[in-house]
Amino acid sequence: MALWSLLPCPPPPLLLLLLLGVPAAARGSPRKVLSEGAAACKVGDLCLQEPLRKSEAPLVNVSVYYEALCPGCRAFLVRELFPTWLMVLEILNVTLVPYGNAHEQNVSGRWEFTCQHGEQECKLNKVEACLWDKLDKNLAILIIVCIEEMDDMEENLKPCMEIYAPTMSPDTIMECAVGDRGMQLLHINAQLTDALQPPHEYVPWVVVNGKPLKDLSQLLSLVCQLYQGEKPDACQLTATSQRKVCFK
Ligand SMILES: *[C@@H]1O[C@H](CO)[C@@H](O)[C@H](O)[C@H]1NC(C)=O
Ligand SMILES: *[C@@H]1O[C@H](CO)[C@@H](O)[C@H](O)[C@H]1NC(C)=O
Ligand SMILES: *[C@@H]1O[C@H](CO)[C@@H](O)[C@H](O)[C@H]1NC(C)=O
Repeated sequence: MALWSLLPCPPPPLLLLLLLGVPAAARGSPRKVLSEGAAACKVGDLCLQEPLRKSEAPLVNVSVYYEALCPGCRAFLVRELFPTWLMVLEILNVTLVPYGNAHEQNVSGRWEFTCQHGEQECKLNKVEACLWDKLDKNLAILIIVCIEEMDDMEENLKPCMEIYAPTMSPDTIMECAVGDRGMQLLHINAQLTDALQPPHEYVPWVVVNGKPLKDLSQLLSLVCQLYQGEKPDACQLTATSQRKVCFK
């Protein structure tokens, strides 16, 4: 499968960005922080510095319709979305929509969900919907990728949040997930997923500027291609050249 062909060889700049980017942000230098999300980045949180955008062209919309426990979704989030986001986040508008192939039913006025990978997946979809709702979007991406990388996602919510959002208690997220708010958020995601045109055929279903992305390994190159402004430096490293590097 195309998705897995890149697995043994992550894009070369990833490690560098991780090594250079995260400690610089952790030192908390007073540059502008990203705060477009529901909650602004608070003192003590790991705040991301906004990379300098070279132009004001519209951001490229990337929406990911997925479910928490599907292996292909986890691979996409960790191996494709995350590296792409690290490299060109200044030109991206990412939306994560956990729900996927789930179903919902109105049972006496409350929404009940059935998920492809069972009850635990419904709970984790709600956990991720609550992270998305309550945190700065960039911090939510970091935490969701962090838990999706782990074997026991619920167990790892706490350590992942301690790294990226130490001022928010994991209990706040779990209370949201098991309560009415989690139910509402998942219902909204159900509506977003059911409204997809064309409808999703599988998960993860990735929509870039309104069109489904068929080859999931082409996210970075497509985003670079679609962005109308001056491209970030990382765009010089296209998916094609990555593959050359990997298979030389
Ligand atoms: C980002 O995407 C969201 C959800 O699709 C949309 O509501 C919002 O307007 C977009 N923002 C920008 C700046 O494109
Ligand atoms: C859900 O069902 C209840 C009664 O069982 C009904 O009053 C309510 O309008 C229904 N809601 C929706 C959105 O269908
Ligand atoms: C991104 O999505 C928003 C909201 O739907 C829309 O207004 C905007 O035009 C989209 N951007 C692009 C580049 O398609």
